[in-house]
Amino acid sequence: MVNNWTGELIYEGKAKRVYRVNDEFLVMEFKDEVTAFDGARKEHAPSKGRLAAAQTVFLMGLLGRYGIRNHLVDWDGDRKILVRGLRMIPIEVIVRNYAYGSFLKRMPLMKPMTKFSKPIVEFHLKSDELHDPLITMDDIIEAGLANWGQINEIINTALRVNEVLGNYMVSRGLTLVDFKLEFGSDGSNNLVLADELSGDTMRVLINGRHLDKELFRRGASAMDLVKSYEEMNKLLGIPLNT
Ligand code: ATP
Ligand code: TYD
Repeated sequence: MVNNWTGELIYEGKAKRVYRVNDEFLVMEFKDEVTAFDGARKEHAPSKGRLAAAQTVFLMGLLGRYGIRNHLVDWDGDRKILVRGLRMIPIEVIVRNYAYGSFLKRMPLMKPMTKFSKPIVEFHLKSDELHDPLITMDDIIEAGLANWGQINEIINTALRVNEVLGNYMVSRGLTLVDFKLEFGSDGSNNLVLADELSGDTMRVLINGRHLDKELFRRGASAMDLVKSYEEMNKLLGIPLNT
């Protein structure tokens, strides 16, 4: 699809660099770095970029086979993926199956890891300065970030993603606690799932033990996190090159 896997660097975030290939495509390069607490803790993590790229490619591929439209086009087999460039909706969509993380901070009446009667979908404004505050659907409408049709489609897609990923994880002996999605729209105004699906953006347990970035948030070293991502890839059945 592309032969030089590069282009003009248009954005550098905490986890990835984004390059513009042309009007249609972007290259996203997963960095060998891990950050937590909005970048306050940051460490070099050799091989993490490739492992997180492989997770994203595998899981987006799985969702694609279930008809969930996403931005993934190709993978260089290492740290870079080719994606469709989208107009991003500046919202983080979080789906939760169990009480954990910031949910428990705002709802301390529930015990950690209580399973919800049904998955919770919530919206956060994508803003590091404001620490991604929880927002309502009316906030989204009033701020003109999305319309009701898009909000409904986001909720339905997020729940479908949860069903497909959750079932797959269970089939591999894993528990999907919660995860974060981002969406954008393409030139024909189709809603498209974007960004990444990796241990950085989801909580995944094996027998109650974290395989995801929570380890680093709780003080584990970057090297231990990388080992854990290797284990996650093995448990998910992710080949090194697909
Ligand atoms: P965070 O780490 O909190 O997710 P960030 O902005 O630092 O935020 P990175 O993952 O480092 O995130 O950077 C990737 C950027 O690319 C994000 O701003 C994301 O919204 C954006 N993005 C993801 N997919 C697409 C796409 N298909 N088209 C355009 N932009 C995209
Ligand atoms: P959440 O419990 O809201 O946040 P915190 O990490 O502050 O406890 O996180 C829910 C899920 O969403 C979790 O799997 C991590 C993911 N997530 C991201 O990928 N990026 C983010 O900026 C946030 C806030 C969460």
